[in-house]
Amino acid sequence: MTAKRQVHLAAHIPGVNNTTIWSGPDAGSQIDFESFEHFAANAEKGFFDYLLLAEGLRLREQKGLIHDLDVAGRPATLSILAAIAGVTEHIGLVGTLSSTFNEPYELAKQLASLDHLSGGRAGWNVVTSSNAFTGANFRRGGYLDLADRYVRAAEFVTTAKELWNSWADVAVVADKATGRFLDPEAIARVEHHGGQFDIEGYFSVPVSPQRHPVVVQAGDSVDGRDFAAQHAEVIFSRHSEFGEAKAFYDDVKGRLAAHGRDEESLRILPGATFVIGDSTADAQEKARATSLAQVSPQTAIAFVEQIWGRDLSGYDADGPLPDIEPSVDAEITRGRVRHENPLAVAKVWREKADAEHLSIRDLVIALSGRHSFVGTASDIASEIDHYVQDRATDGFVIVGATNPRGLDEFVAKVIPELQDRGSYRTAYDDGATLRENLGLPAVVPGATSLAREAVNQ
Ligand SMILES: Cc1cc2nc3c(=O)[nH]c(=O)nc-3n(C[C@H](O)[C@H](O)[C@H](O)COP(=O)(O)O)c2cc1C
Repeated sequence: MTAKRQVHLAAHIPGVNNTTIWSGPDAGSQIDFESFEHFAANAEKGFFDYLLLAEGLRLREQKGLIHDLDVAGRPATLSILAAIAGVTEHIGLVGTLSSTFNEPYELAKQLASLDHLSGGRAGWNVVTSSNAFTGANFRRGGYLDLADRYVRAAEFVTTAKELWNSWADVAVVADKATGRFLDPEAIARVEHHGGQFDIEGYFSVPVSPQRHPVVVQAGDSVDGRDFAAQHAEVIFSRHSEFGEAKAFYDDVKGRLAAHGRDEESLRILPGATFVIGDSTADAQEKARATSLAQVSPQTAIAFVEQIWGRDLSGYDADGPLPDIEPSVDAEITRGRVRHENPLAVAKVWREKADAEHLSIRDLVIALSGRHSFVGTASDIASEIDHYVQDRATDGFVIVGATNPRGLDEFVAKVIPELQDRGSYRTAYDDGATLRENLGLPAVVPGATSLAREAVNQ
């Protein structure tokens, strides 16, 4: 009998936005380390492959003010992950870090350091996150053009790999008898002269347990998919509905062969939310209450304002969509990706609201607050298993509704059901790296062994 395909799960820590019930009675701090510690301990109890932190590099603004219900950012990603490394043993630590607003040398150093501190559990969610508003925090004004985002991202990852590959495994001699610490012959000088980066010198961090952190990617365009097919080991996708997930999976996995890679060298994990009930009806009732708590009237109006480009605070969130047209050139929201064509989006939204008799708030819930899995723990485990066995995904990035306890019930109830189905681990392998937890090949895309290493073997 062939073994069942294994489900891979990541745990996402929600920030403050329309997916989080940050003010509810069960909600804890979004900022204190205790929250991150609890979240990580629970995810590790559920044998998740990794936990994921998203990141924004500028506070979002709406109507010229800080948008206090949509907060991009929290304490710095790598600092949180390094602290979590100290209180966990097995779980992977994946940080979202922009290839547009960082420099390869600095980031390669930070990630190699996290890989050392965690014993090989570091991962890097490479996002391009290019917009002029965020760019202003980096004194680059409108940097980067849309077309250049993945050009820089690809050269960024390539440069980082050159740095990570520049130390041979044998470079640290640490011989007390001879007084020799490093073997300079085993550290290559990095010379990268490209269109985006011009680097010359030695990398300062010894080779880390995984050599490269696991490269994760979150992007959807054709350029994004090609970039992922070439460089990524995991994709954080937004396609969780079965048909869309399957289409995305087939498309991206189909791009791997052109880069000499096979299907098992890339894991595709869509983001997914869930509501667990004692019965289907109970779960549905809970799902409705959760959505209403996530999307307050203020959040619903702010969401629609992002498309309309107008102040809609005079409208009733429980009433129909505004009868006026969106303003095409107004930039009322800053820090979120703006839809290319607000008029077209408004048209689709109006048609949906009319056809389904939805208020503004109902529409926002339908668009952004729909839960991926609603049912008993057994139903949810069966559905997750179905996605993976039928190759629509390799698993999911599970997003809870509250912080930090939003995944506790999932771990207590759904994980045992997955284990009963033979599709989920019942223990971590001792000392396994993140790449090993994910069941990925040890040889990562773009890895090159040093000539010196070959000589020394
Ligand atoms: C599921 C998902 C999560 C993302 N999370 C972040 C994030 O935390 N921070 C960020 O700056 N960008 C994030 N992005 C934005 C992407 O990096 C990228 O900039 C954006 O999707 C545009 O790329 P594309 O044209 O290939 O889709 C995310 C994208 C997706 C699909």
